[in-house]
Amino acid sequence: SGPVTAQLVASRVLDVPDFPKSGVIFKDLTPLFADGAVFREVIDGIVAHYGRDSFDVVVGIEARGFVIAAAIAYATGVGVVPVRKAGKLPRPAFNASYALEYGEAVLEVHEDAFAAGQRVLVVDDVLATGGTAAATLDLVSRAGGTVVGFTVLLELSFLAGRDRLAPRPVHALLTV
Ligand code: PRP
Repeated sequence: SGPVTAQLVASRVLDVPDFPKSGVIFKDLTPLFADGAVFREVIDGIVAHYGRDSFDVVVGIEARGFVIAAAIAYATGVGVVPVRKAGKLPRPAFNASYALEYGEAVLEVHEDAFAAGQRVLVVDDVLATGGTAAATLDLVSRAGGTVVGFTVLLELSFLAGRDRLAPRPVHALLTV
């Protein structure tokens, strides 16, 4: 996950002005996901950063985190656990609310998602304010998992998500 991977991510992000609302510049990573060689190098970069024997399961955060989590899991032979928006999981779940710009949202994880002490790598596409990640890390802990890392493809440093998550470490392939 050195400079080569950062450049690869940078080369496959599109800035979309005024999405999903006026004044927001949306970071669109669909070009990265669509490029097989780049996607593979990005996934391999994440695995190399942590080491392939350093986690027992990967958590993906809905929705784009699912894509990354599944690839890491397949590459390393571990399983995937989804953290989902409220009301999507079929069985008893822990929930955590987090602030949006207006109002709040809720994330959930199945209560029995982890064996006690299972080492969990949490992944998402973008770290912005860190609200989504903070709620997810809380959920994983409550469900008995041990978070060993949180990684994103792209960190928007001006929104200070890393500070919000401190002292928990954040790994980002590209920080802008
Ligand atoms: C985006 C992104 C992260 C989150 C980051 O997801 O994929 O999950 O926002 O923002 P934060 O750091 O300020 O919490 P979104 O809420 O758009 O959900 P989606 O992937 O289901 O569209």
